[in-house]
Amino acid sequence: MRRKCIVCGRDAIIYVPYARSAFCREHFERYYERRIARTLKEHGFRGGRVLVALSGGKDSVALLAALVRLRSELNIEVEAVHVNLHIHRNQFSDVSLDVSKRVCEALGVRLHVIDLKETTGLTLPELVSASARKPCSVCGLVRRYLLNRFAWERGFDWIATGHNMDDACTFMLKALLTERLEDIARAPEVVTPPRPELRLVGRIRPQLFTTARENRTYVAIRGLPVVEVKCPYSEEATLHKYMKLWEHIVRVNPVSPVTFLRTVLRIKRALGEDAELRTCSRCGFATTGDVCAFCRLMERVRRET
Ligand code: FES
Ligand code: ZN
Ligand code: ZN
Repeated sequence: MRRKCIVCGRDAIIYVPYARSAFCREHFERYYERRIARTLKEHGFRGGRVLVALSGGKDSVALLAALVRLRSELNIEVEAVHVNLHIHRNQFSDVSLDVSKRVCEALGVRLHVIDLKETTGLTLPELVSASARKPCSVCGLVRRYLLNRFAWERGFDWIATGHNMDDACTFMLKALLTERLEDIARAPEVVTPPRPELRLVGRIRPQLFTTARENRTYVAIRGLPVVEVKCPYSEEATLHKYMKLWEHIVRVNPVSPVTFLRTVLRIKRALGEDAELRTCSRCGFATTGDVCAFCRLMERVRRET
């Protein structure tokens, strides 16, 4: 038998396991936006200028669309930024940039573009071959650094990123099963306040308690485009097997994503403060050592090219 919307009784389009509720189109849209707003408010978010990191994937597109709708309720101004990584295999970067432009046009949002080649002189594949790190790690490092610098220089209070609950849980499950306490200590939070003395812009992850499927459904309801091609480096990710394991856990216990994440965040707090931060002696942005990972990468690349 088809499930019915718990609000109006019409045929449901989605069942949300952790909420044990099914929704029709209209009521899912409302549920999703309420959940984003509530997640932020419950974590003490009070508004400001928000820069959404838009990759063109379903999570960040859904995030931008929801935040635009919630502008006045959350007391935020919203702009978007896309990092062009110049990954040309599968036309990945061209497609991602094109989708980002179309999404922003449809939503009436200003889009900024950080061009990796213009900023560093190199494309992501070139940076990857000059570095000893894995592609996703180079990508994450460079993106985090450039987004923060860009947002800081333009006076944004917050960077919003599209972390979904499934990815966060999978990452944390792996951390617990492989004894990586340093990853637990870095567990993503819904709100990480700004630290102006370290030139760190605040971070919000409003989708930390919504699933990938909910994000995809919301984007479809809103009729927005998303990037369907995969990043050519993504097959190299080792998270895949943990993803399968996680899916199994959710089948056994549908509420586990919410309780699991809450538990991990409590462990994180019990572990105490993350590594002490200071400013990089080269660029002046936050780091744990003397020179930040971005400056070290750039120095290595300069030596090797
Ligand atoms: Fe960063 Fe694929 S998008 S490695
Ligand atoms: Zn309904
Ligand atoms: Zn630096």
